[in-house]
Amino acid sequence: NQRQIIKDLLQSTAFDTEVHVKGWVQTTRMNPYIAFIALNDGSTINHLQIVADISIFGQEFIDKIKNTGTCIAVTGKLVESQGAGQRVEVQATQIELYGESDPVSYKLQAKRHSMEFMREIAHLRPRTRTFGAILRIRHTLAYAVHKYFNDNGFFYLHTPIITGSDAEGAGEMFRVTTLDPVNPPLTEDGQVDYKQDFFGKPTNLTVSGQLEGELGAMALSKIYTFGPTFRAENSNTTRHLAEFWMIEPEVAFNDLEDNMNLAEDFVKYVIGYAMEHCGDDLAFLENRLIEEEKNKKQEERSPMPLLEKLRFVLDNPFERLTYTEAVDILVKSKPAQKGQFKYPVSWGIDLQSEHERYLVEKHFKKPVILTNYPKDIKAFYMRQDDDGKTVRAMDVLFPGIGEIIGGSQREERYEKLHTRIKELHIPEESLWWYLETRQYGTAPHAGFGLGFERLVLFVTGMTNIRDVIPFPRTPQNAEF
Ligand code: 4AD
Ligand code: MG
Repeated sequence: NQRQIIKDLLQSTAFDTEVHVKGWVQTTRMNPYIAFIALNDGSTINHLQIVADISIFGQEFIDKIKNTGTCIAVTGKLVESQGAGQRVEVQATQIELYGESDPVSYKLQAKRHSMEFMREIAHLRPRTRTFGAILRIRHTLAYAVHKYFNDNGFFYLHTPIITGSDAEGAGEMFRVTTLDPVNPPLTEDGQVDYKQDFFGKPTNLTVSGQLEGELGAMALSKIYTFGPTFRAENSNTTRHLAEFWMIEPEVAFNDLEDNMNLAEDFVKYVIGYAMEHCGDDLAFLENRLIEEEKNKKQEERSPMPLLEKLRFVLDNPFERLTYTEAVDILVKSKPAQKGQFKYPVSWGIDLQSEHERYLVEKHFKKPVILTNYPKDIKAFYMRQDDDGKTVRAMDVLFPGIGEIIGGSQREERYEKLHTRIKELHIPEESLWWYLETRQYGTAPHAGFGLGFERLVLFVTGMTNIRDVIPFPRTPQNAEF
């Protein structure tokens, strides 16, 4: 009894043959003689209609299987559908009940629930049409990432999850230890004795695979990482997670301009790939958004429907300018009602999301790449410009998202890098291996990190990053 996939059957023309499907009941419509069961197996946003003759199966059995969430196996005949809205349906000859679903206590009703409510039932929300669509798009984007890099001669490098260094130097790490957290062993002068810890020194979950990625690029020349990253920053926003997935290409011999070209080409490719392969799911999400927007004030509505927005990003070159030029624009601008930003702008500040979104959504009205940021607001490893003030950084900013990519050309000169590490009081002994790359066969190189969930957020048109990862990790939230 080989199960067939609903996605395939919906395309099938093998009429009058026997088929076998298994899945979960979405809804059931009934008249006194026939039950029409919408069955979904997760392979597609669309359901397969099962037609069950009540005189064959009995009212009692139909009442057991008709409820949303029930799991059944169906054998029947594939026929052309008489009803509107579907091409094929299955006339059931046998139905096996795997699991009932009590309509009173089952938390997912066959109606639209708020995203807030669905976050509370994250164990069930993958069964909804909206999350099914998001999860299939997420999968397709991940596949496109690997395909892009593989097709372009990059090697997938697995960098460590547990590390002894802080790649971003921002101190936002989750400590990993086997010591007793309440009564850790102490040294003679009262410090925690990390020599007795599993690795014999303090370790943490990685905040970025970049530094190890650079080691790979110094050997294989083109690598990328794609793995989980962890940040203990206490930012309870719609764009931050404590556990997120990052994609980090690193390329020997690339400079900042090559890096920008790669970022733009890559991100356009993966978005285009999702558009090509997730048409049904994207159309569903677009309609959902249009419905939702009807309840919003005019000024809060998004200027473009989802697919048009994606197409627009693919068809237009990203705007490229320096941080200094961007600050000039921001200083001269008159944003919002009061004509000022919440955080005032001057050269040297770390741009806030309101500034980034002003540039992208109001000023340029397209994705923007900002470069050459002040060195004091960027990480130690970025290549210093000759002016002594800026570094060869780049941030890619997207409408509705803000920063989606952060990257740079790296400081490949040993003296400059070593001096910077000392200036910033970064413990040198945790980076001796990194410094050695600059002592033996150093080379110019560049790379960037794309926050995978921010990409999924953009492509799906969702507004909260917790809704584009199956099991979000945020402060106060580690269910499962
Ligand atoms: O800008 P970030 O911190 O850069 C790095 O980690 C570099 N080592 C990357 C590199 O050059 N190889 O992070 C890169 C991207 C951000 O642009 C953002 O998209 C995402 O990672 N990101 C987060 N996404 C979700 N939740 C968080 N807390 C994030 N922090 C960063
Ligand atoms: Mg950044």
